[in-house]
Amino acid sequence: RIYFGRFISTPKPDELWIRTGAVLVDSTDGRGVIEKTDWHVNGPNDAASKLGVEAPVVTAKDDGFFFPGFIDTHIHASQYPNAGIFGKSTLLDWLTTYTFPLESSLGNSKSPMYNDSSEPPDPLARAKAVYNRVVSKTLSHGTTTASYYATIHVEATNLLAEIAFKKGQRAYIGRVCMDRPETCPDYYRDESTEQTIANTRASIEFCKELDPSGERIAHIITPRFAPSCLPETLSALGALAKDEDLRVQTHISENLNEVKLVKELFPEQDSYTDVYDHHGLLTNRTILAHAVHLTKEEMALVKSRKSKISHCPASNSALGSGFCPVRELLDEGIEVGLGTDVSGGYSPSILDAVRNACIVSRHVGFLKGGDSRFNLSVAEGLWLATVGGAKVVGMEGRLGGFEQGMLWDVQEIEMGQIDESGGGWAAGVDIFGWESWEDRVAKWVWNGDDRNVKRVWVGGRMVHERKP
Ligand code: GUN
Ligand code: FE
Repeated sequence: RIYFGRFISTPKPDELWIRTGAVLVDSTDGRGVIEKTDWHVNGPNDAASKLGVEAPVVTAKDDGFFFPGFIDTHIHASQYPNAGIFGKSTLLDWLTTYTFPLESSLGNSKSPMYNDSSEPPDPLARAKAVYNRVVSKTLSHGTTTASYYATIHVEATNLLAEIAFKKGQRAYIGRVCMDRPETCPDYYRDESTEQTIANTRASIEFCKELDPSGERIAHIITPRFAPSCLPETLSALGALAKDEDLRVQTHISENLNEVKLVKELFPEQDSYTDVYDHHGLLTNRTILAHAVHLTKEEMALVKSRKSKISHCPASNSALGSGFCPVRELLDEGIEVGLGTDVSGGYSPSILDAVRNACIVSRHVGFLKGGDSRFNLSVAEGLWLATVGGAKVVGMEGRLGGFEQGMLWDVQEIEMGQIDESGGGWAAGVDIFGWESWEDRVAKWVWNGDDRNVKRVWVGGRMVHERKP
C-alpha cells in the first residue's frame, strides 16, 4: 500500500518535520514495514511511478496529515471506568478508596465494589467490558502502542492481551504483582512470593502463545510499586525479568508520603531507586512511572542503569503529587516518554498528556525563578509522545517516525473548520486557512481531541476509523 499526503513528525526534540510525499508499506508479512519513501511526489497519481510499484494509494485529506501513532508508556487498563473519579484524594488514600475496590472487581466476586450491587457479580464479564472499551477508546485517540497494567488476576489479564491483539493495538501486558500484607488489602493480593511468580509465569506463557514474536503483544513484569511487594518478591521478579528477557514496569517516587513509606519499609536501602536496583529491577528495559521527587543521585543511578521514565503530568496534577522536572531528566540524559496513567490521570488521551506536559513544565520554570528554559515546546511534547515513547518501550528506530524500516503505526489527523450553521465537527480546532503548518499543529495540540483522529493503523493494519 502507498500512503500519499502531508507527513509530520518530530525526528528531533524541538523541530517539526513537515513534508508532502509518499510512503510504501509492505503489509504482506503482517508487520507493516515502511519499504520506501519519496518526498518529491507531485500527487497521488504520481506516487506509484515514483516508488516503482503498483499498489493501492491511501490519500490523506489536504487539510490533514499523517502523524506517528502515540505511545502511552503508562496506563492502567483496569482503572478506565474510574477516569475522572478521584475527588480530593492523594495517592495512598486514592489507592484504597477508589483503585483497589475497582481492580479487585475484575477478578474477585467478593470485591467491595459488589457490596451494594443488586446483580450477581460476574467479574470476568466486567473485565471483558472494561478492556474492550479501553482498547477501543485509546485507539480512537491515536494510541498505537500502550504499556498496560491489568490486575492481579491471571484470567482477566490474559483477556486484556487477547482483546488488544484482536483489536490490533501494540501492547505490553502487565499482570499486577502485589503480595505484602501490611500494604495490600486482604481482598486484593497474592498470598506469597511463590503464588506471585506462578501467576506471573502463567500470564507470560499466555502472551508468548498469543504472539510468539513478541512484536505486537508481550508480557511486561509489573511489581505494582515497592511498598506493595514483599522484598523476596521484588528479587524474584527481577530474576524472572532477566531469565525471560522481559520489560519491567513499576511506579517510583510519585508522592512524598509514598517516598516516606518506602524509607520505612526498606530501611536498608539508600533511596527509593536503590530499592529497585538492589532487587535487580533497574534494567535497561525498565519503565519507571512518575519520578517526581527523585534526588540528583537517584537520577544518576537511573541514568547509569539506562532505565526509562514515563512522565504522567495529568495524573501528577490530579492527585496533587507534584511537578516532575522533565527538563532536568532530559538534561541528565535519561529517556522519557509520556503516560496517561489512567485513572490517576483523568484522560485516556496522549494528546492531553502532551498539553499537560507543556503546562507542568511552565510551572516548573516558574518555581525555578521564571526560567523559560524549563518550558517544553509543542514539538518537544509531541517528540516525547512518539520518539521518546519509542525509546522508553525499547522500539527506538522502529516506531515514532516515517523512515525506511520503521513500522506503519500511524494516525491520520484532520483539522476542518467550524460549521457556522451550528453543530460542526471542527473538534475545537478552527482553522482559518492562513495559518502555517507549525501553527496548525500547535492549534491541534492545544485544542484537538479524538474527533481529529480520522484513521489509525498499527503494523499496516487499519485499526480505527472515525465514523462521520
Ligand atoms: N502507585 C501504586 N499503584 C499506583 C496506581 O495504580 N496508580 C498510580 N498513579 N500510582 C500508583
Ligand atoms: Fe500508574
